[in-house]
Amino acid sequence: MQTVGVIGAGQMGTGIAQTVAQHGMKVLLADLDLAHAEAGKDKIDQALTKLVGRGKLEADQAEAILARVTPVANYAPMADAGLIIEAATEREEIKKSIFEAVGKVLAGDAVMASNTSSIPITRMANYSPDPQRFIGLHFFNPVPVMGLIEVIPGLATLQETTDRITAFAEGLGKQVVLSQDEPGFVVNRILLPMINEAIFVLGQSTANIEDIDKGCRLGLNHPMGPLELADFVGLDTCFEIIKVLYATTGDSKYRPAPLLVKYVEAGWLGRKTGRGFYDYTGEAPVPTR
Ligand code: CAA
Repeated sequence: MQTVGVIGAGQMGTGIAQTVAQHGMKVLLADLDLAHAEAGKDKIDQALTKLVGRGKLEADQAEAILARVTPVANYAPMADAGLIIEAATEREEIKKSIFEAVGKVLAGDAVMASNTSSIPITRMANYSPDPQRFIGLHFFNPVPVMGLIEVIPGLATLQETTDRITAFAEGLGKQVVLSQDEPGFVVNRILLPMINEAIFVLGQSTANIEDIDKGCRLGLNHPMGPLELADFVGLDTCFEIIKVLYATTGDSKYRPAPLLVKYVEAGWLGRKTGRGFYDYTGEAPVPTR
């Protein structure tokens, strides 16, 4: 893969773009408009500058990586991409309109992938021009750091597509877990019920935010407690994923915790809005309950 298109310049899209560029490929980065795509490139610049400051990267290497990322105003330049990765908001109607639009320029042998956390790949493949070349490619946040990528073929995905995308993922220095196209795939199917349950535990005042997180950090040896992690992932994203699990299985064990719904309705979405279960506006995060 010489050139990779990345659609979505948020937390995941910029992490994917940075990782791909760090592995020598060119990236075309798109978002709602050029300004959003350029802001995404600025975020990558900041992440690389931090790595240079910590002595993890030479300044000239950072410059070369950044030079491989080109923000684009529309999808037309992605006609040159061998792979297009969609990493937009976790809402099916948004992803559908992206696949339909970028499908018009997708090269004849290129692959279209979605970084969806939970939406069925087989269904979304129908929004693309060729479901045989459509696949799920699920990264974990922070993308440059996390060692895993889930690869999820849909019903119509060709084995050749799965093989190419698995090789691409391994070429990024990641390990691959192959998942069938089932709700939440492997990791989120396990993670989201845990996060949702932690929010029930908080809502029932079994313990406060700090102790719920401390319990899981120390008792389970997790690097982050479930509420910190929910803030890190974004409470809106957590809500969208648990809703998909609930809607696609009809199993009441996936019903969203009422407190999660309230936080999302309040616009308290976690780190990205400065407030979730913790307040991020000061020097260090402060629990809010
Ligand atoms: N590019 C490259 N390297 C980066 C980086 C970036 N953008 N950001 C951080 N790093 C590196 C740092 O240089 C550092 O490297 P060293 O260990 O070699 O020094 C390392 O990553 C850790 O960074 P920090 O010291 O800043 O932070 P930390 O030690 O507190 O760890 C963390 C932060 C990695 C996020 C850790 O807390 C963690 O692993 N948390 C859990 C994350 C997790 O579970 N993610 C999955 C979420 S679920 C998901 O993503 C799927 C979904 O669909 C919802």
